[in-house]
Amino acid sequence: MGLLIKNAMIVNADKIWDTRQDILCEAGKIVKIAASIAPDGHQIIDAKGKKVLPGLIDIHVHLRQPGCEDKETIETGSKAAAKGGFTTIMCMPNTTPVIDNAMVVEFIRREAQRVGLVNVYPIGAITKAQNDQELTDMAELKSAGCLALSDDGKAVLNSRLFRLAMEYAKMLDLLLIEHCQDPCLSAGGVMNEGEVSTLLGLKGDPAIAETVIVARDIEIALYLNARVHLAHMSLKRSVDLIRAAKAQGIQVTAEACPHHFTLTDADVKSFDTSMKVNPPLRAKEDVEAIQQGIADGTIDCIVTDHAPHTKEDKEVGFDAAPFGLTGLETSLGLTITQLVKPGVITLSQMAERMSAAPARIVGLGGKGRIQEGKDADLTIIDPDKKWTVTKEGFVSKSVNSPFIGRTLSGRVEYTVCGGKIVYAPVA
Ligand code: DOR
Ligand code: ZN
Repeated sequence: MGLLIKNAMIVNADKIWDTRQDILCEAGKIVKIAASIAPDGHQIIDAKGKKVLPGLIDIHVHLRQPGCEDKETIETGSKAAAKGGFTTIMCMPNTTPVIDNAMVVEFIRREAQRVGLVNVYPIGAITKAQNDQELTDMAELKSAGCLALSDDGKAVLNSRLFRLAMEYAKMLDLLLIEHCQDPCLSAGGVMNEGEVSTLLGLKGDPAIAETVIVARDIEIALYLNARVHLAHMSLKRSVDLIRAAKAQGIQVTAEACPHHFTLTDADVKSFDTSMKVNPPLRAKEDVEAIQQGIADGTIDCIVTDHAPHTKEDKEVGFDAAPFGLTGLETSLGLTITQLVKPGVITLSQMAERMSAAPARIVGLGGKGRIQEGKDADLTIIDPDKKWTVTKEGFVSKSVNSPFIGRTLSGRVEYTVCGGKIVYAPVA
């Protein structure tokens, strides 16, 4: 028995089908797309009135396991992903221990398989224990199943090491993901450096802390003719640097998060610690530039930087709170509300930035597109359905969302991963 999706309006990155189709999934693959497919005892989803997108892919998530299971586990993070419409997620290595050897990679993959909801690809560290001193065994991490490496949470500040890492990554065909932030320049900043930080008396993190690393990495990529992927871009100047680099043919790709195209540093005036995130919320002109960068493709993909923290961790003063917000369950709604509804991007472009592009960037050839023969990973949405974000609605272990109370357009109706329904609305 397979899974048959009836009356699907298919939205691919390059095309929205103009007639309804049936999609048959068997043995984890899309086996047939046709105007009408007989029910034949298959499990059926009627997608009438909904849009069917290739399963969303988030290449920047923090799952916290091993080490901080009070914040999130692979199981609760997988549930949050499925509820948010994601069928594939990649988790960052800043766990305890750090994902810097094959054993930790295998542990995460096994646990994700046991949970059996979404595909989880661990991202290995670039330097051992993320200590910026010694490279990991990148070939070992690749053989264990890593598609990408990163020291996310901090930059690889040692430029010689980053150069070497880029050379090895090129040989091994691994993606390097850089957290662009020079800690000497950030110097303990807790929000964007600017008028608002001065007004609030909070220590500012200056824009150049991000842009000096963006510029450095682009230079190294040019020098080595190698590729680099820049995480959570937050500034107009970063978008300008990336746009210019791409125009020269430099192999740079980049991502941005919903909070960076939605909120500004003025929102920190609430002193809500779920607004404390790294990189920080920026100025209005930066938010507009990030939106423009997503629209014109300078920013290749949208990621969440899902960074769960417990209530206890966040219920402290703004200075003391950890950086990060929970993002998996609000990403699609924010993207539709902030970008699709106002006409910044189309639904097809959303499928590109949230599925096709990330699949391409990390090399998941079987994903990112609804087509016969591809993996049966599908996200069925109602882009017009409005819903309100509530604390109780989260299935993640943590509820550190600055969007609680907001009404968003665009709701996930079903998430199908490998031909299996992994999220469905409660009746
Ligand atoms: O806000 C953030 N939280 N930014 C990061 O770079 C790390 C992350 C975390 O691990 O909490
Ligand atoms: Zn991160």
